[in-house]
Amino acid sequence: MTPVSVLDYRRLAKERLPHFLFEYLDGGSYDQVTLGRNIADLQDVALRQRVMRDVSKIDLSCTLFGQSLAMPVALGPVGLAGLSARRGEVQAARAAQKAGVPFCLSTVSACALDEVTRGVKQPIWFQLYMIRDRGFMKTLLDEAKARGCSALVFTVDMPVPGTRYRDYHSGLAGASGVMGGLRRFWQGACRPYWAWDVGLLGRPHSLGNVAPVLGKNTGLEDFFAWMRGNFDPSVTWRDLEFIRKTWDGPLIIKGILDPEDALAAAAVGADGIVVSNHGGRQLDGVMSTARALPPIAEAVGDKLSVLVDGGVRSGLDVVRLLALGAKGVLLGRAWGYALAGGGEVGVTHVLKLIEAEMRVAMALTGTTSVHKIDKSILAPL
Ligand SMILES: Cc1cc2nc3c(=O)[nH]c(=O)nc-3n(C[C@H](O)[C@H](O)[C@H](O)COP(=O)(O)O)c2cc1C
Repeated sequence: MTPVSVLDYRRLAKERLPHFLFEYLDGGSYDQVTLGRNIADLQDVALRQRVMRDVSKIDLSCTLFGQSLAMPVALGPVGLAGLSARRGEVQAARAAQKAGVPFCLSTVSACALDEVTRGVKQPIWFQLYMIRDRGFMKTLLDEAKARGCSALVFTVDMPVPGTRYRDYHSGLAGASGVMGGLRRFWQGACRPYWAWDVGLLGRPHSLGNVAPVLGKNTGLEDFFAWMRGNFDPSVTWRDLEFIRKTWDGPLIIKGILDPEDALAAAAVGADGIVVSNHGGRQLDGVMSTARALPPIAEAVGDKLSVLVDGGVRSGLDVVRLLALGAKGVLLGRAWGYALAGGGEVGVTHVLKLIEAEMRVAMALTGTTSVHKIDKSILAPL
């Protein structure tokens, strides 16, 4: 199959990844209601077809947080993405750089900040969770600064982790010890290309940024145990003072789904927010980001830049979210599938597809610049 869409890359990812890794990438929490809502509500947003408006030139370029971008899209943080392809986060960051969009490295990446930033020329973004050990957080923030990261994405929607049944069923979660390891080893062996490319040639499989605190406990179960034990559920807006004091670059708060929280983010001096429910991986049953976005964008106005993610599977979806009030859109699973399905080439291809699809959506709604996209290009259903 020659992939021509994000969903084609999802099929490829399913064929190439060991079962537990595909389930981890693809899955949502509990009954996956919110995961489904993100996709369905976005597809329900009807675009307004317009004709005869000279759409021979279409401009996707924009500026976000002082950076010039080829289009208002970024690769959002996806933990463990580096296990989808050999030294995967480096490959994805290269693809993003080629496409002229930011790459955001997760706290819980497979490749460390140092390796990814050495692999690209442009600065990347870095995502951080609130970790109990503030000393370790400061070390990570200092490292991000030293490595020239151009924005900090601070994720606030995971004070406690939501349960993902699919991870338990696949053997990624809850299957510790020798039997768990054997189960995952067998699933890896059933995907010979992955076993060769990532399992063997993609070593070391240490867990990037958190490897120093994991010490000798490098297994996946050690990593998840560390996450459960070290993410800080006591975090409040007051803790943002610590972040603000330590990080003087653009600060983007990710995981906002309520206008009051968006206003609180503006009040603590954030430069941006990401309207997000973690791709339906945290509280199942919360509303989709397509529905949450308009009242949030209206509430904050120009106080900060509103980004959004969740359920984006095409450039048409990007245009829909811009029309609903976002200034930029983060891809999550879309680039994860592409990386698993085709490495750097796959991510480059998906970014080209997204761009081409945006151009078509803009041409057929009679819009020539991303700055002109607003709710006037939406049709009532
Ligand atoms: C496999 C996976 C891992 C993720 N890891 C992180 C993470 O480490 N940090 C974070 O802030 N968000 C993380 N997210 C959430 C994404 O940044 C994003 O909010 C979500 O994927 C958007 O939904 P979509 O995948 O449907 O587009 C992860 C998402 C997935 C699918």
